[in-house]
Amino acid sequence: MTWLITGGAGYIGSHVVRALAGSGESTVVLDDLSSGVAGRLPAGVPLERGSVLDGALLDRVMREHAVTGVVHIAAKKQVGESVERPLYYYRENVEGLRTVLQAAVGAGVGRFLFSSSAAVYGMPDTELVTEATPCAPINPYGETKLAGEWMVAAAGRAHAMATASLRYFNVAGAASPDLADTGVTNLVPMVFERLAEGRPPAVFGADYPTPDGTCVRDYIHVEDVASAHVAAVQRLIADPGARLVLNIGRGEGVSVAEMIGVIGSVTGLSAEPEVVERRPGDPARVVASADLIAEELGWAARHDVRSMVASAWEGRLARHPERTGATG
Ligand code: WQD
Repeated sequence: MTWLITGGAGYIGSHVVRALAGSGESTVVLDDLSSGVAGRLPAGVPLERGSVLDGALLDRVMREHAVTGVVHIAAKKQVGESVERPLYYYRENVEGLRTVLQAAVGAGVGRFLFSSSAAVYGMPDTELVTEATPCAPINPYGETKLAGEWMVAAAGRAHAMATASLRYFNVAGAASPDLADTGVTNLVPMVFERLAEGRPPAVFGADYPTPDGTCVRDYIHVEDVASAHVAAVQRLIADPGARLVLNIGRGEGVSVAEMIGVIGSVTGLSAEPEVVERRPGDPARVVASADLIAEELGWAARHDVRSMVASAWEGRLARHPERTGATG
């Protein structure tokens, strides 16, 4: 089989490409390099540069590379931006997905894996979020991911494609420094940035109904996210009738304060945080149940939070050796 990985030069996508190629699958990447980096791709993996909105390009890529499966990761993923620019998010994430699906169906592709998100759940009022927890996204980003899951499932049923939607929880870490997240939009890189500037990390609210008052999340190492994709891809190959919707998490809640504590310990920098106002729209607690994916695919995460932080820090040091915050 040959797998087209959209967004394969991105932070998560490049980990998936490396893991899939390492498992012996033939891969080709489509990426517009808006946030992706061509240098993240392993030698020998072809890169087609362009947009998921370009149907003619997708048709050509599917034909020329004889694509038989798609892993659709390319998307916009900033919650705040999605509130400001909902139509842009619907175009990139929903119309982008529709265009990829259209080309896949046209090319007779039989397997389709879609990157979804814990954002489909919104503000879940439950200790552990299972795949049966009602989906109620609270921002356009989450809406586009839920609409995407529906579209993937409907197209799968109508066109005899095996499908999987994987709901990522809070992804962190790097399999190697060159694949690290270069964005500064999530907790770990944002804390690194503050420390590098010699400033205290910001905690967005410490009055939540959680044990230490700070928000609790389910952090997952990106290398584990990648291995979950390999397991899902293998299932899609083995079962042409597969219809998977699975959480990718560890089932362990970690608070913002705990995370900042680990960052201080790993970096050796003073990480005494400063509590600032709550960020609008943050749920107090979002932690996955990881039971279904264990049952269905025999998959479980292997890395802990310390390993995520240590590998992310190595990536940061590799990019900014001069700005470690050590003098701050
Ligand atoms: C984690 C916690 C912040 C920075 C988002 C999307 C979600 C998914 C992952 C894509 C929150 C707190 C953060 C800081 C802080 N995206 N925080 N100080 O919001 O859980 O999830 O990214 O699929 O859909 O919603 O992740 O990393 O932004 O924040 O206190 O400097 O850290 O308030 O509680 P979030 P995050």
